[in-house]
Amino acid sequence: MRSVKTVFMAALATTLLAGTALAQDYPTKPVTVVVPFAAGGPTDTVARLVAQSMSKTLGQQVLIENVGGAGGTLGAARVAKSPNDGYTLLLHHIGHATAVALYRKLPYNALTDFQTIGLITDVPMTIVAKADLPPKTMAELIDYVKANKDKVSLANAGIGSASHLCGMMLMSALQTQATTVAYTGTGPAMNNLLGGQVDLMCDQTTNTTGQIKGGKIKAYSVTTLTKVPSLPDLPTADSAGLKGFEVAVWHGLYAPKGTAEPIVNKLNAALKVALKDPTVVQRFADLGTEPVPEAKIDPKAHEAFVKAEVDKWSPVIKAAGEYAD
Ligand code: MLT
Repeated sequence: MRSVKTVFMAALATTLLAGTALAQDYPTKPVTVVVPFAAGGPTDTVARLVAQSMSKTLGQQVLIENVGGAGGTLGAARVAKSPNDGYTLLLHHIGHATAVALYRKLPYNALTDFQTIGLITDVPMTIVAKADLPPKTMAELIDYVKANKDKVSLANAGIGSASHLCGMMLMSALQTQATTVAYTGTGPAMNNLLGGQVDLMCDQTTNTTGQIKGGKIKAYSVTTLTKVPSLPDLPTADSAGLKGFEVAVWHGLYAPKGTAEPIVNKLNAALKVALKDPTVVQRFADLGTEPVPEAKIDPKAHEAFVKAEVDKWSPVIKAAGEYAD
């Protein structure tokens, strides 16, 4: 008669072996990457470029599912509650960290409900406006926004989005406020900026570069402390009247917590290949950004970075008095 312990150990070994075998065969079907903003925006652009390359490495389709709303928290919640089998991932940005301070009741824990896979890219932002907004320079825009206060409409992708964070910092710096208009992503917001239905937006170069170069929108500055090579005519906000103004939008890839290590390692390896893919690197450069250094494309480094960002932005957000229920 085999002891209970022997039977238990045998069952445990079988389960572990089965799990390892599943992980070793992974992926055996398409992988879904949830983008927590509408299609056509900057997060979607980064995700589709990375997914296209990861598909080649993984030998399975990597599909994008756009789940917009509530500044990216609806999409993040979807992945937090998904099976940890490696088939539902999240590609999110700085909003994953800022939501911790902005939302009083997040339906997930941004630090413990996810398994980090690696950081991807850090994207500059641009302060842009509809083509016929009167100010011609950043200095004129500062005066205009202050003089018109609530009459200026400011687009963002919801509380917790990068465009919301940048807009909040801009209004704090100008000691004024505007009328904010929230969209499910800055893809749809850009459509309204192009049509003149909204005045102003702070958005990532991955979404604004084409429209700026096409002369379809006005651009006043970039939000990095150094100029963006692909937008050489744009001054930094720091040098154009907003001393010290700096915000850039880092992006990372996540799986639900508890995802098996062999799967995490396979996804991390495919992400590293994608961020060396000449097509991805060139497209990133055309859009004002570049892959992060390889040392940051690491699950542990990514995890530590998110924690540090939560600690960094929480006091800034609390000082601005912004929150969402
Ligand atoms: C943001 O503002 O967080 C992003 O630009 C939203 C998006 O990617 O559409």
